[in-house]
Amino acid sequence: MGPTTLPALLRDATPADAPALLAIYAPFVTGTAVSFETEVPSVEAFRARIAKALGGWAWLVAEDAQGHCLGYAYGSAHRERAAYRYCTEVSAYIAPGQRGRGLGRQLYTALFDRLAALGYCTALAGVAQPNDASMALHRALGFSVVGTYQRAGWKFGAWHDITWLQRPLREWPLDIAA
Ligand SMILES: CC(C)(COP(=O)(O)OP(=O)(O)OC[C@H]1O[C@@H](n2cnc3c(N)ncnc32)[C@H](O)[C@@H]1OP(=O)(O)O)[C@@H](O)C(=O)NCCC(=O)NCCS
Repeated sequence: MGPTTLPALLRDATPADAPALLAIYAPFVTGTAVSFETEVPSVEAFRARIAKALGGWAWLVAEDAQGHCLGYAYGSAHRERAAYRYCTEVSAYIAPGQRGRGLGRQLYTALFDRLAALGYCTALAGVAQPNDASMALHRALGFSVVGTYQRAGWKFGAWHDITWLQRPLREWPLDIAA
């Protein structure tokens, strides 16, 4: 890895971060198949996503010394049905010019500690192909590939595969009451 900035300040997101974080995310909706969304969410909708993640998972932000958001990572529900409640789906987005400097690793490392402390056992990530940086990030953080959904998404006039990866967050307890 090349020269790295000092470790970024990591903190919990707040709903007030929505405009800055949406500015990082929106280009992946409008210009790429990295996100399978086709419409950029409103700031209000994005704020609601942050609030929901903060309510049951975690949403972390990396910022510089001036308080500019450099990237974020968060956990969310994988599926809504109750038996999935120990799984969480994770994702990270780093601002242009800040990628490849260790921020994704820092954010994910902190995020996984938080998600494990909340009781989640398994992190899942879906990576639209190709995405070498995201595959490298997930592999570097201990994910293994589960498999690839072939042509799962249609965006910008083409089919896109999505590779699913998973990583343990903590021991799987065997004494869950229900
Ligand atoms: C994917 C992404 C979040 C990774 O974050 P990052 O800050 O750039 O990654 P890091 O610098 O922390 O690197 C993490 C690991 O991946 C590797 N890596 C990063 N970018 C890479 C690239 N383009 N090609 C190959 N390996 C890469 C690094 O070498 C590092 O490995 P190491 O820690 O063992 O040395 C970031 O590149 C990004 O925002 N990409 C666009 C949005 C995106 O695709 N998000 C993921 C959606 S699934």
